[in-house]
Amino acid sequence: MHGRREAMRMTGHALARTASSIRIEAVTKSFEREVAALDSVTLDIEAGEFFTLLGPSGCGKTTLLRVLAGLEQPDSGRVEIGGRSMAGVPPHRRSVNTVFQSYALFPHRNVRQNIGFGLEMQGVPGAEIAERSQAIAELTGIGTLLDRDVAQLSGGQRQRVALARALVNEPDVLLLDEPLSALDAGLRAHLQLELKRLQRRLGMTFVFVTHDQEEAMVMSDRIAVLNAGRIAQVDTPQGVYEAPADLFVARFMGHENFVPIRQRDATGVDTAIGRLDGDFGGGTHLLLRPEAIRLDSDAREVPNRFMARVSERLYRGGMTEYRLDCGDIQLMASCANRGQPGHEVGETVEVGVSDRGTATLAD
Ligand SMILES: Nc1ncnc2c1ncn2[C@@H]1O[C@H](COP(=O)(O)OP(=O)(O)O)[C@@H](O)[C@H]1O
Ligand SMILES: [Mg+2]
Repeated sequence: MHGRREAMRMTGHALARTASSIRIEAVTKSFEREVAALDSVTLDIEAGEFFTLLGPSGCGKTTLLRVLAGLEQPDSGRVEIGGRSMAGVPPHRRSVNTVFQSYALFPHRNVRQNIGFGLEMQGVPGAEIAERSQAIAELTGIGTLLDRDVAQLSGGQRQRVALARALVNEPDVLLLDEPLSALDAGLRAHLQLELKRLQRRLGMTFVFVTHDQEEAMVMSDRIAVLNAGRIAQVDTPQGVYEAPADLFVARFMGHENFVPIRQRDATGVDTAIGRLDGDFGGGTHLLLRPEAIRLDSDAREVPNRFMARVSERLYRGGMTEYRLDCGDIQLMASCANRGQPGHEVGETVEVGVSDRGTATLAD
């Protein structure tokens, strides 16, 4: 244990060995409703992984975290943490801590007392509590705030205290339930990076919950997308974004360009926007990524071209988004701004689509 604490203070390397893997096998949980909150969920999370549960409100993310923490019993299925069955193991006997969205700090205690509370309850000697609290506060960037009242802290500082309070217990697994969603955008982006660095440094297994697909993409090693209590897809950020398993995942990842496929043959597909040559796989819809749609001179580098009218233009600094009318279908194209003149609303442009940068989906 001492080596581990030392590691937390220094580099965190030694912690990699103590992170736990998680196996969730056919876990089902219902709350007296027709639809199960969790419907036969199976997941393998690797030791030391930054794993994210992503999905809309009500899809079962919090319920799954509560099952892992032992706060909720599954109706059926099993959970293993670090290769050990969690059946009958109460929350305080699991090497798991949770950071909640609401900080739930003790308002009348200072930062040091908030961080040390759990250790105090376990009867850890005062000198050790002081040492561990100091180390973890430095790691989470609140080393100078230990004597402050939590009432005096900003939202971001409070969330760091909540994080420090969970980490000071040295769990093998940290569960984080939308810990950043109450923060404003700038601070949130900053803490996303910090949290990811911290996880790397500690080598701890993080199971992170969010409904924000961009947050999931920047932070995670892998993402499980949940849809109404079921796992829709488990993949890397690039995998879920570029090759979503179905229309639900594609929409949730922010995609808008879905083109129905009418017919396919050996060399290509007939679609609602015309004939496209290439290998487009076997789904019912073509998904075109906005950054894979080329306009005018860029379009000439790819084989499949057609004309469209610009109906909307959104300048976003690094890129410009164009909404394009292509017959009955509307497409969103995203073009990097490299100093070239943009396209005006009402202009007719040549659009190019290649089979790379597309994915096919079944609905
Ligand atoms: N204690 C509970 N009692 C009744 N229904 C619940 C309870 N907890 C969660 N649910 C229901 O289970 C489903 C999943 O909820 P939850 O896991 O909180 O979703 P998420 O965290 O993804 O928003 C929702 O339909 C929710 O209303
Ligand atoms: Mg929730």
